[in-house]
Amino acid sequence: MKVRIAPSILSANFLRLGDEVRQAVEAGVDLIHVDVMDGHFVPNITVGPLVVKALKPLAQELGFELDVHLMIDNPELFIDDFIRAGADLLTVHVEASTHLHRLVQQIHSGGIKAGVTLNPATSLTTLEEILPEVDLVLVMSVNPGFGGQSYIPTSTAKIARLKQMLIERDLSHIEIEVDGGIAPATVEEAVRAGATILVAGSAVFNSKATISDNIKALENAIAQAVT
Ligand code: DX5
Ligand code: ZN
Repeated sequence: MKVRIAPSILSANFLRLGDEVRQAVEAGVDLIHVDVMDGHFVPNITVGPLVVKALKPLAQELGFELDVHLMIDNPELFIDDFIRAGADLLTVHVEASTHLHRLVQQIHSGGIKAGVTLNPATSLTTLEEILPEVDLVLVMSVNPGFGGQSYIPTSTAKIARLKQMLIERDLSHIEIEVDGGIAPATVEEAVRAGATILVAGSAVFNSKATISDNIKALENAIAQAVT
């Protein structure tokens, strides 16, 4: 599976969101990560379906997908709104619902891809039953809530164990996404362990370099890792 970067708009300039997303897509990405936080499940508040809806025409024009990461309690109340807004992939936290299977069904019934996410302290064993039902597993490599945190080193072994689990269960079509602290210095270990989608917020949108140069640096690190 090709390794892809999914820039997280959490670190983008919201006054110029469309422009910044366009720059990222012109630099070669085909997935944009939208972090939805409710101030309950995580100690921060970000954006809702309105922003997904605002990005959708651009996604259609430029041909990228909207990867929506729900860090919210009671996700069942909002899934349909995000589907209507134009999400292509919806990811829910295993910690946020007692009825994960029903949530995955709800997402699939909207005709889009479903992902499940694990916080750093959540065991891969929680995936045991749901794994065959999902399109993607998102391994959090920071505690969710904020951009710009450091990659938690034990995430690498967790990704590797997940990859092994997928191989053993003949489920290698499932994507492994990693989120938090991804930068050129951490790309290699995440990719070697088996991650196929790398979420990157502060490593893409920052004042140190252009969005395009930042994406190139991440692409170079991916190229190193896959050789
Ligand atoms: C954290 C979010 C991440 C965040 C990553 O709760 O889920 O997607 O934007 O930011 P960086 O890449 O800066 O760690
Ligand atoms: Zn995220």
